[in-house]
Amino acid sequence: MAKVILLSGSPRANSNTVDILKVCSEAIESQGVETEILTLRGKKIQSCIACGKCAETKNCVLNDGLDEIITKIREADGFIPAAPVYFGTARGDIMAALQRIGKVSRGTDKFLDWMVGGPITVARRGGQTITLQEMTMFFAINGMIIPGSNYWNMVFAGPEGSAKEDEEGMTTIKIFGENVGKLINKIKE
Ligand SMILES: Cc1cc2nc3c(=O)[nH]c(=O)nc-3n(C[C@H](O)[C@H](O)[C@H](O)COP(=O)(O)O)c2cc1C
Repeated sequence: MAKVILLSGSPRANSNTVDILKVCSEAIESQGVETEILTLRGKKIQSCIACGKCAETKNCVLNDGLDEIITKIREADGFIPAAPVYFGTARGDIMAALQRIGKVSRGTDKFLDWMVGGPITVARRGGQTITLQEMTMFFAINGMIIPGSNYWNMVFAGPEGSAKEDEEGMTTIKIFGENVGKLINKIKE
């Protein structure tokens, strides 16, 4: 069965980002595609050190747990990273993770090529579109395919547990998830 990995870049225990990914995950599964939600919470994600060793080892040599996430993404058909907006851009660790995931893919068997997905952002008030644009750069350079929704993949939420109050944003995420599932099914026909 096809599978999509969803990755949260929030450090919070009761994270809005994870609540949003649960809605996305249910929508993907409604199309008969399996999902797994992973999180960077509790991990100390380092930035790429440009050692180039991934070309030999086929995975990242930094020992902070991202290599296990990379292994799961490598086996999947879709990938959806989600980030809280911090000071107008994505929280740092999710960008560090994306840069390392991209470096391993490009340096080895280009496992991201034709993978379906797209970024999701959550913010209390500002910085959504620039954060989506920042994260979209990862998809475009790695040969990935982003389906649309009825709006951009953003949800407004501040306090923990408040994402569900943005009904319009959650509907956008639901439609996006359904489209990810539908597109994967089309590609695998
Ligand atoms: C250090 C920090 C910076 C933040 N910067 C922004 C910001 O620039 N714009 C905004 O709208 N919200 C900002 N927020 C609020 C978070 O994006 C918001 O609370 C979000 O729901 C957090 O998602 P999470 O619960 O998944 O961690 C910031 C929060 C923190 C802790």
